[in-house]
Amino acid sequence: MTALTETSHPALWLDPKTSVGSVEREQLQQAGLQLLPVTTLHDLKQGLARARLVVIRLMGDTGLLEEVRKLTQAFGHAIPVLCRVERHQFELGIEAMRRGAYHVLSDEDWSVDSWRNALALAPTRNELPKNSLQTFVFVDPVSQHLLELARRVAQTQVSALIVGPTGAGKDVLARVLHDASSRRGGPFIAMNCAALPENLIEDMLFGHEKGAFTGALKEHRGLFEQAQGGTIFLDEIAEMPYHLQTKLLRVLQERKITRLGGNAPIELDVRLVAATNKDLREAIANREFREDLYFRISAFKLSVLPLRDRPGDIVPLVNQFLSNYGPSDRQIRLSPRATEMMQSYSWPGNVRELQNVIQRALVLSNGDIIDESDLMFDEWEAQVTETAIDPLGEVQPVSNEAQPTAVIDSGALSAAVKSSEYQAIMTAIKSSSNRSEAAKKLGISPRSLRYKMAQFRERGLPTLAAG
Ligand SMILES: Nc1ncnc2c1ncn2[C@@H]1O[C@H](COP(=O)(O)OP(=O)(O)OP(=O)(O)O)[C@@H](O)[C@H]1O
Ligand SMILES: [Mg+2]
Repeated sequence: MTALTETSHPALWLDPKTSVGSVEREQLQQAGLQLLPVTTLHDLKQGLARARLVVIRLMGDTGLLEEVRKLTQAFGHAIPVLCRVERHQFELGIEAMRRGAYHVLSDEDWSVDSWRNALALAPTRNELPKNSLQTFVFVDPVSQHLLELARRVAQTQVSALIVGPTGAGKDVLARVLHDASSRRGGPFIAMNCAALPENLIEDMLFGHEKGAFTGALKEHRGLFEQAQGGTIFLDEIAEMPYHLQTKLLRVLQERKITRLGGNAPIELDVRLVAATNKDLREAIANREFREDLYFRISAFKLSVLPLRDRPGDIVPLVNQFLSNYGPSDRQIRLSPRATEMMQSYSWPGNVRELQNVIQRALVLSNGDIIDESDLMFDEWEAQVTETAIDPLGEVQPVSNEAQPTAVIDSGALSAAVKSSEYQAIMTAIKSSSNRSEAAKKLGISPRSLRYKMAQFRERGLPTLAAG
């Protein structure tokens, strides 16, 4: 075999029909491609991590492309895919492009020019299109099922309601609903009903005519109008004021809006997606949410489960965040013990917390391996009874009189000692001359650090004198 030149790019080569002959291999090599042999799963993992592209020969349908897409997702890699199809199979080539292949070549084409050109066209991993269907992780069977459901719901025009705990991926799913729908070329307009003062929501949503009220110097198109041809995403819908719920319901029924101070109704072509982490039925019982609006928006209800209930997503998410936030020139990995810890943790803050943990770990770790001690979780889970951990990380008995709030069971102790968050914070504080320096080392804001310290004190854990 010819020695590899500096310009050779590793490529995973999948061809269920024939192996590459030596002449063809030579041509590919001249074009700059170095074929990576794959015989074991380990080869495949390694290959996906380092290959410049994947080359797939399609045999009549895009099945193999779909399988590869699932695998790359499972391992958390975004990688350009080139498909080879039989010369006359135009439709298949188009379908492959539609499903994310960046280029298609005839399976008889071995010309150095074609392959050199194909290589030049290949996007780098960072340039790959940020389509939610490709960049988000849906690996656990529970998540795959949810994704399938979302794709089907996306094909319809009816409103959808996404429910799930904080940080679990409701925004992500709203985006998926848009990207998988025929509206994907149109706008995706999001509004958080909890983030706006009540009197502004109406104006934001429906807009106003010039002179509609004092200060309305210009006409203003509301979010519904801005979302024409696309999707409007109303986050934290439970926080929508009651009288506006009535108005929203009317808009959904009539598919028309009227701007404030206007009288000409405007036809709407907008799909509504709403989300909440509250139990809307409880809100209905408390007369905070309109039952008829609930029926209207929950025809399709999608539940995003807490991360702990879909453990198969954890490692792929870790890989995804490592490659998103880690250095681009080398690969950072988790030690087996750190991986174990990630898998056994209960993730009260769900995917957002996992994202935070990885971002912090990348700051805390030195070298290419993230170890247990680099993992700082958002929540202090363990309850402390007769024991607390001193700032040096040593376990010391603490009298209950001295620490009245420190209530604990003994089983939680090892978890407490292990919980690296407290230790990492204390270590950072000890080794820094002030709090903002410590916060910087930890990769969190001084405000978050103050908040953490207050939480520790609330739980009766010793924090250094000035907190
Ligand atoms: N399946 C996923 N794949 C990749 N990243 C994800 C996934 N789900 C969530 N995330 C990431 O986790 C973070 C939190 O997700 P998101 O904002 O969708 O949660 P949420 O349920 O809307 O939270 P909140 O209740 O606080 O609004 C985001 O940064 C998002 O990109
Ligand atoms: Mg959200």
